[in-house]
Amino acid sequence: MTIGNLNLGTRLIQAPMAEVTDSSFRSIARSFGVGLTFTQMVSAKGILNNDFTSLRYLSFSRDEKPIGVQILGNDPHIIGEAVKEIAKFKPDVIDLNCGCPVDKVTSKKMGSALLEFPDLIGKITRKMVDNSGGIPISIKVRLGVDKKNINVLNNAKVIEDNGASIIVVHARTMTDRYDVDADWSWIREVKKNVSMKVVGNGSVFTPQDGIEMLKQTNCDGVMVARSSIGNPFIFSRFNSLLATGEDPGLPSVDIVNSTLMTHLKMLWREYDEIKALDRSKKYVIWYYQFYNGINELIKRIFSAKNYERLIEIVETHYEDLINHRYLEDTTNYNDLFKKRVVFWQDNINSDVA
Ligand SMILES: Cc1cc2nc3c(=O)[nH]c(=O)nc-3n(C[C@H](O)[C@H](O)[C@H](O)COP(=O)(O)O)c2cc1C
Repeated sequence: MTIGNLNLGTRLIQAPMAEVTDSSFRSIARSFGVGLTFTQMVSAKGILNNDFTSLRYLSFSRDEKPIGVQILGNDPHIIGEAVKEIAKFKPDVIDLNCGCPVDKVTSKKMGSALLEFPDLIGKITRKMVDNSGGIPISIKVRLGVDKKNINVLNNAKVIEDNGASIIVVHARTMTDRYDVDADWSWIREVKKNVSMKVVGNGSVFTPQDGIEMLKQTNCDGVMVARSSIGNPFIFSRFNSLLATGEDPGLPSVDIVNSTLMTHLKMLWREYDEIKALDRSKKYVIWYYQFYNGINELIKRIFSAKNYERLIEIVETHYEDLINHRYLEDTTNYNDLFKKRVVFWQDNINSDVA
């Protein structure tokens, strides 16, 4: 997929995720061949107020490029000014969040609450395009606020008419949150109706789902969120499947463990011990979600009181797995995993200014 002069080299993109897509996450995703990563949503007001948390969410290093910064807000002027600031950091894309369904955000007429106001989305898009100094603008939308009010085709037209380069279509409505299957037929409809780049999103849980979305909708790129958490392998598997028709499958426990260890070291460097420990516990579970012994691991990992103990638990788990010490664990952790992610999202600590 290309965006302006930039060739992403693949058609798979990593979604913005609050409290997840930090620098460590993005670097790991990059090393497994993702085309473009995103920061989590950053408050436009927070940027203009030099708020510490907002600026931290916004920061990225050169080797994380290509990268998109996602912005949250609803005032065209404030967003326009924030875009000028963001442009100084030279990200590859600047995106507007019109998809977040969390009450804390929608009650302030931000995120997916904007979907009901196409004129406002148009004004914001125009300001972003005018102020970005040529950096491509993308708008991430849902289908509408609910099934009776699906207006994605109208919003897509407004977004295109106001100069955006990309629309990301998360094929659920605001009230669907994350609980129902995404309806990809709307991605296909949007693609038929606009000439800007269309990125499809929602319910891509395997590399095969990604290829299926490309086939069914003719979209330019596929964005994945939940399936990439603790599973950066989805990016290399997808790339291989697209290029050769072969999916190398789930990685060996050795690769999972060494990637997890690298990720844990990065988190340790990125945060203080308390925050790193909290985040790392979740990653340990997510990396090992598809392997035997997961229930045992969950019990053990939450007892870790410091980083040293956390690493010990991971090392023991790895040894136990390669020595086949776990009896076959047939628990399907997948559904629970998805719910836990959403639960985590309800507790977003984002800078919703
Ligand atoms: C933990 C979590 C945090 C999220 N945070 C954001 C966010 O900051 N900005 C955004 O546009 N979408 C956010 N989303 C939505 C995802 O980007 C994506 O649109 C959604 O999860 C659907 O994709 P999936 O079915 O591949 O998970 C978040 C989703 C999750 C699970």
